[in-house]
Parts: sequence; C-alpha cells; structure tokens
Amino acid sequence: MSRALTFHIFRHTPGNPASVPHLQDYALEEAPGMTLFIALNRIREEQDPSLALDFVCRAGVCGSCAMVINGLPGLACRTLTASLPPEITLLPLPVFELIGDLSVNTGKWMRAMSERLETWVHLQGEPDLDAIETPMDPDLAERIYELDRCIECGCCIAACGTAQMRQDFVGAVGLNKIARFRLDPRDRRTEPDYYRVIGDDAGVFGCMSLLGCHDVCPKGLSLQTQIAYLRRSMVRQGLTGPTRCL
Ligand code: SF4
Ligand code: F3S
Ligand code: FES
Repeated sequence: MSRALTFHIFRHTPGNPASVPHLQDYALEEAPGMTLFIALNRIREEQDPSLALDFVCRAGVCGSCAMVINGLPGLACRTLTASLPPEITLLPLPVFELIGDLSVNTGKWMRAMSERLETWVHLQGEPDLDAIETPMDPDLAERIYELDRCIECGCCIAACGTAQMRQDFVGAVGLNKIARFRLDPRDRRTEPDYYRVIGDDAGVFGCMSLLGCHDVCPKGLSLQTQIAYLRRSMVRQGLTGPTRCL
C-alpha cells in the first residue's frame, strides 16, 4: 500500500521584499520508485508551479539538484522517497547564495573557488600538442579520473562546519581539485605553487577534520584520504617553505 507523504519545504524569495522565510506543507501519495526529484516535480505540476528548484540531468551527473534532505545534504534525483520517513523536510543548501526556495547559486561559489585555486592544467611555455597528447600511464589516468568524478554539487560545502564559518574556505571540493592537479604530469606547477593557493586557513589548514564532506559526498569520493594526504604534504612544504609559521 502506498504511503501518504508530507513535505515541509522551505519557501523564500530573497529578491521579493514581501517574502518571509517559512516552511510550506504539501501532501503527496508515494508512487513505486519515486525519487525526490519526481515528487517535487509532481508537486510543482499539480499543486504549486511557483516552487523553485534546480535540476538538469536527473541522473546524479550535473549536481544541480542538491538540497538538505531531512537534515543531510544530498541529491534529489538520487534519493528514493522510500528511503525516507513519511515526513520529509527540504531546505536549500546553506553557504551558497539563495536564489529562491530550494534553488541556490552554487555556480557563483564554484567559479570563485576555481579562479582562486586556478583549477586548470598549467602548461609551461607555448602549448606542445605532442606532449599534451602523450599517452598517460593507465593506472595514473584512473587515479585522476577518480578525483575528476566530482560534480560540484556543493553537498560537501553544506555539510562542513568550517565552510559555514568562513566564506573564503575552499572546502573539500577545492582541496579535491588540487589533489587532482598534483597528480597530473601535464600540470607544471610545483609544490610551492600549490602551497601558495591552499597553504592557509582558507585552504587545507582551515579543515578541522569534521568529515561531514566525506560522509555526504554523493559520488563517494575519498575526501578524507585526499585531505589528510594534502595536509601532510603542505605541512612539509610549510616547514621548508618561506611563508608558514607553525
Ligand atoms: Fe559534491 Fe563530492 Fe564534489 Fe563535494 S566533492 S562537490 S560532495 S561531488
Ligand atoms: Fe570540512 Fe570536510 Fe574538513 S567537513 S572541516 S572539509 S574534513
Ligand atoms: Fe543532475 Fe540531480 S538533476 S544531479
């Protein structure tokens, strides 16, 4: 027998001075295989077209449907309602700029983080296409690919106490990107270059090992391992480099 679900959904439009943040209730009958994505779209189609939320791929690839689901950040399109109790509370991800209701501007945050960390391959001199296309050791390519699976959903930022306190903290998503570029033999940056972008409290030394990021990452990335390894490397760099005082 299908369950009667009750959704408590955050509503607020920051651009509207008359809008007051509140939870709005919606009732919906559960269907077999129903995801939160399906439920929210049914609510929007059948009950309230004004409800704002983001989605693109419906398959856990674009990262845009992340929200706080009964207290934990997760992807609406990958969460079955059957895995939740009949009372479901949905909030927008914290930290990111609220656009409205469940929609937040993760893109603005991710772009600022990427520009700060320079998350692209830094070639030396003029691009040498032969060098760029040199076949990579398959095991190394696999390790880089594993870290490249990040979909920039923002769940790790929403689950991180440091990110709530420091707007400039690059979070697990940023640290994971530096871990990825350190592996890439095409990136000509050296350890002091990486230290320059993450060797401070807005980078790897701001992480307090709270591990919320690791627990909620929908792609199951080994964030705990990556951050611990980076921290050890950057401490060594700080001890031998010119800038950090431990
Ligand atoms: Fe999302 Fe995981 Fe990437 Fe963080 S590291 S943005 S939780 S996929
Ligand atoms: Fe935050 Fe993850 Fe560190 S939750 S404090 S980035 S271990
Ligand atoms: Fe793309 Fe959910 S809609 S990850």
